[in-house]
Amino acid sequence: MRFYAEIVMAKKTFQRPKGTADILPEQSVAWQKVEAVARQLFSNYGFGEIRTPMFENFEVFARSAGDTSDVVTKEMYDFYDKGDRHVALRPEGTAGVVRAYVENKLYGPDHEKPYKVFYMGPMFRYERPQAGRFRQFHQIGVEAFGSKSPALDVEIIAMAVNYFKTLGLKNLTVAINSLGDQESRQAYRQALIDYLKPHFDDLSQDSQTRLEQNPLRVLDSKDKKDQEIVADAPSILDFLSEASQAHWQRVQELLDLLEINYTIDSNMVRGLDYYNDTIFEIMTTDENLSGAATIAGGGRYSGLVEEFGGPDTPGIGFAVGVERLLALLASQNAEAAKEPQLDFYVVNLGEGSDAPALKLVQDLRQLGYRANRDYLDRSAKSQFKTANRLEAAYVMTLGDSEIANHTVSLKNMESGEQEEIKLDQLAEELARVTKKGDK
Ligand code: HAM
Repeated sequence: MRFYAEIVMAKKTFQRPKGTADILPEQSVAWQKVEAVARQLFSNYGFGEIRTPMFENFEVFARSAGDTSDVVTKEMYDFYDKGDRHVALRPEGTAGVVRAYVENKLYGPDHEKPYKVFYMGPMFRYERPQAGRFRQFHQIGVEAFGSKSPALDVEIIAMAVNYFKTLGLKNLTVAINSLGDQESRQAYRQALIDYLKPHFDDLSQDSQTRLEQNPLRVLDSKDKKDQEIVADAPSILDFLSEASQAHWQRVQELLDLLEINYTIDSNMVRGLDYYNDTIFEIMTTDENLSGAATIAGGGRYSGLVEEFGGPDTPGIGFAVGVERLLALLASQNAEAAKEPQLDFYVVNLGEGSDAPALKLVQDLRQLGYRANRDYLDRSAKSQFKTANRLEAAYVMTLGDSEIANHTVSLKNMESGEQEEIKLDQLAEELARVTKKGDK
């Protein structure tokens, strides 16, 4: 008995891990909406869904994201499993998709080029949680392999813009930059080191380390003093090779052709190291979300497929931060944040109504309608209140007389119109009534 008492005393309450969230049913409606729109739109653009593991060999991320990026050096959820393998929860989707592309030989002759995929799911980064920044967050992303065409860059940016437009978002800006090819970056790297060296003592510890290893990373520093120094740094756009310059020009011409507004941000480098040539971010100008303003980011990466053992194949993609997207939708009161209504709420009154109500909601759901009922024997008034709260289009009432007559009384909640429906002709009657309601 004492033992039991100790267990009771020791009863603990648990909280979800820092930087994670429970997504409750009333919230998942908006999640499902943004996912459904993505599935539909991306498939219109010829993308198929890919699902890769939520953890991978640590090297998959270390190699691709770059060993001077914050994502690898500070934010990785990595551990040794029981078989002593070094694995990590995925911090982003691109690396796993590239690994799968190579492992499944998706570059082979049986597959169309460009090979286009999209994905959605949780990602994990050990970041300091704050508004719009979580340790488990979700991305909806796309990747396309096997084409160097600037038209593909523009189509991918257009698809992202189109996605946000379909969801009803306003106040977005597209920022673009080019990181050039290897030749461009080689030339720029030296110029940047020459510029930063005289400021060495004023740079943050991180930037001092990165100066030699990967000076471009210094441009992405969050440190205020670093940012001041970097503001006057030479621009990579002045160091583009001939090929990269031509690509960059063409991307701008084609964005103009599609009338996509953009700004050029020559200091943008992005947080992951695998990019070259076109990179872009889509941000909101809404001030209340300024801390988490970037809702999508992406760009070209040419070396990754080879790095993973595949043939020389260019890639390009982007990922949307779903939590940030939903926060923005909610703050702008856009369509996706709204809960859909219920088709039928069944008010059941009296002792004998429980089983008929069970049967009726079951029949309604089988006919493809969204239906719910009262399970608590509550008064007619409280049941109608619930129907209103759930935004039911119709209320069906089942009382003693309806049950005796095999009917149900149907009320259109918008017009107030009421009529008796025969239960043995439920499907036909409802098809007639709901069609009339559509007009
Ligand atoms: P990223 O910029 O690291 O790119 O992440 C893309 C988006 O994910 C960000 O713009 C942001 O909205 C969201 N995000 C990132 N970290 C967090 C966080 N801790 N909490 C909440 N949201 C976050 C990538 O991940 C690349 N894989 C995108 C890509 C695909 N590039 C080419 N293909």
